[in-house]
Amino acid sequence: MRLAAVLVLLGALLGPAAPQDPFQWLSSLRSRGYPEGSLLADNTGGDCPEVCDCPPTFPVAMYCDSRGMTAVPFVPSRMKYVYLQHNRITAVPDGAFANATNLVWLMLHENHIASVGKKAFAKMARLDRLYLSHNNLTKVPANLPSSLRDLRLEHNGIAKVPAGAFAGMDNLTILLLNDNAIQDVGAALKGLNSLTLLDASGNQLKKVPESLPEMLHQLYLESNAIDAIPTNFLGGFTQLQYVRMAHNQLTDKGIPANTFNVSGLVELDLSFNKLERIPTVSTTLEHLYLQANQIKEFSLGSFCSVVDVMNFSKLKVLRLDGNEISLQDVPTESALCLRMAGEIAV
Ligand SMILES: *[C@@H]1O[C@H](CO)[C@@H](O)[C@H](O)[C@H]1NC(C)=O
Ligand SMILES: *[C@@H]1O[C@H](CO)[C@@H](O)[C@H](O)[C@H]1NC(C)=O
Ligand SMILES: *[C@@H]1O[C@H](CO)[C@@H](O)[C@H](O)[C@H]1NC(C)=O
Ligand SMILES: *[C@@H]1O[C@H](CO)[C@@H](O)[C@H](O)[C@H]1NC(C)=O
Ligand SMILES: *[C@@H]1O[C@H](CO)[C@@H](O)[C@H](O)[C@H]1NC(C)=O
Repeated sequence: MRLAAVLVLLGALLGPAAPQDPFQWLSSLRSRGYPEGSLLADNTGGDCPEVCDCPPTFPVAMYCDSRGMTAVPFVPSRMKYVYLQHNRITAVPDGAFANATNLVWLMLHENHIASVGKKAFAKMARLDRLYLSHNNLTKVPANLPSSLRDLRLEHNGIAKVPAGAFAGMDNLTILLLNDNAIQDVGAALKGLNSLTLLDASGNQLKKVPESLPEMLHQLYLESNAIDAIPTNFLGGFTQLQYVRMAHNQLTDKGIPANTFNVSGLVELDLSFNKLERIPTVSTTLEHLYLQANQIKEFSLGSFCSVVDVMNFSKLKVLRLDGNEISLQDVPTESALCLRMAGEIAV
């Protein structure tokens, strides 16, 4: 009886203009003087910790972000979406999420996490997103759930990627490893059959990772120490459109002929390397960044066939500034070949 009365009263108070977001709804109630947790609290699987907010209308979400917490609070088993980002959590022990086996999203980014128990995430069979970015990790945590689709580990101090780190992650689509201290990923990426975005920029890679997944759409390897590209590097991909390798140690010698003469690529960034020649690219490429290399000549044949001028380049943007050529080095017949280019910087 009483509950029904409260509901009717709530309905009248909120009217048709009630905010959509449950969290917003909760704060609007609180601002009207309703005490936290007094309304329709769902305690299935344990109470909401006092320091967090668990909106009664969205009982599977727990908001604990930006509260200065130093440890993971108890997470009731009903929870699917848990927000713990921007705190001062230093560790995730084995039992931290013992009851939270239904988690779908777990946000732990912007903490000080330096240690993770070997079983900390092991029982989360439905976990879809795990964000551990901006922490103090030195290796990829063990036994991550194979159900993950979006795994973010960027801005840590990760130096080690164990061979089985991503084993069985058939559905992993996004993997962010950028801004760590990785020297080699070994064969850890093998078998990531759904991976479309790999960001491994800002590491200490000396070579292109082996066994790159065939479904990759974006490959970011800039700001590493890569000096050579393997033969037929781009031959195995079916969807690759964006390749970024700026700020590496690439030389002409390290790039086999026709490496980038493959159709499908839309953007190629080789800026801030040590190239002396313009590599041959496919006529389908649209954006080519070659600024800040040591390029000494403008070779039109890198873009177009001299035999078939009708097969012109689709380049829209070509950056050649910061090299050893000037506008005089660009032959007039380039206008025919590079007719789509709205921007050529020399
Ligand atoms: C957590 O799970 C354990 C084991 O499943 C159970 O015994 C315990 O009651 C749960 N804790 C709460 C607060 O629900
Ligand atoms: C995490 O890293 C920061 C900055 O690198 C450092 O100041 C802090 O002491 C580290 N904390 C832990 C728990 O390792
Ligand atoms: C990948 O997703 C499919 C479809 O949602 C699911 O059946 C399968 O179990 C998932 N694989 C893993 C390793 O979780
Ligand atoms: C680029 O590849 C095509 C075949 O895909 C070939 O016809 C063409 O000659 C190559 N360009 C150069 C400069 O080797
Ligand atoms: C245009 O040239 C590219 C190589 O640069 C080749 O792969 C493609 O088949 C050619 N297209 C036509 C229509 O001749």
